[in-house]
Amino acid sequence: MAATRATAARIVALRFDGDALVLLDQTQLPWRERYLRLTSAEQVADAIRRLAVRGAPMIGVAAAYAMALDPRPELLKAARPTAVNLARAVDRVAAAPNRLAEARAIHAEEEAASDAIAAHGADFLAGAGARRILTHCNTGALAAPGRGTALAVIAELALRGGLEPVLATESRPLLQGARLTVWELAKLEIPHELIVDSAAPGLIASGALDAVIVGCDRVTANGDVANKVGTYGLALAAQAAGIPFVVAGPTSTIDPGTPTGADITIEERDPDEVRAAGGQPLTLPGTRTRNPAFDVTPAALITALVTERGITSPR
Ligand code: MRU
Repeated sequence: MAATRATAARIVALRFDGDALVLLDQTQLPWRERYLRLTSAEQVADAIRRLAVRGAPMIGVAAAYAMALDPRPELLKAARPTAVNLARAVDRVAAAPNRLAEARAIHAEEEAASDAIAAHGADFLAGAGARRILTHCNTGALAAPGRGTALAVIAELALRGGLEPVLATESRPLLQGARLTVWELAKLEIPHELIVDSAAPGLIASGALDAVIVGCDRVTANGDVANKVGTYGLALAAQAAGIPFVVAGPTSTIDPGTPTGADITIEERDPDEVRAAGGQPLTLPGTRTRNPAFDVTPAALITALVTERGITSPR
């Protein structure tokens, strides 16, 4: 494949504008590119809760700027429990002598991390001969400042050439793959195909993929990984097929204070996210649901963890 616009089409999902946090409203994508201008902790917490801003590193940076504008740490930390980046950024800014300078430092660190993750991850996957790659949820420039994490690795591989069309899962219920990953890949002109989540294990088993790469919301002391619900099933399928299952994320997502995946609080979201899609009911009103937003993949299933510092093997 010819070189793509993988670096030229720069997506800036979050910026600080002197007296406001400006966010690309991810609930409106891919149909409308609308920006929110937020000036209070309540507004930012609400944007985080309803996934107008999302992805572990990005909610950390959003909360950091919210702490500079309107320091309400407990309100911000309560917005989403699973990604460690959120609470960690809030605590870091709260303890800093200059809150805005600290928020800007966190933002800059995440941007730099994303470039390093892209390079290390692409080296690893290219070294493994991976050309047919599947990813889950959204881990690009919408989810982390700079180029993102797992999707940044994919974009870097596309830039280097030789990548087959990327398989993106829908990522029900909120369709981060169908709405956001497809939007980013289209902007970057990276060939891709969208699949329903339940098609992934069968395609992996059929030999259609060389590797799976995903992001992470919390990596515990023993190397277990919480990420978007559905990740665990992909890891099991990858192991059964004997292909690499790679996790990419900045070190700000590693949480040595949580011993194992069993100790992670998994966010349970509104039942209506399962009962409906795009405002259309999918089932009988009032149907009881389970809606865990994340699951935990044991370290034993993870071939490599890619951070800005390089590659480690959690197992
Ligand atoms: O619920 P979301 O959309 O915030 O979930 C996002 C994910 O699970 C990502 O894989 C993770 O945050 C890493 S983003 C670089």
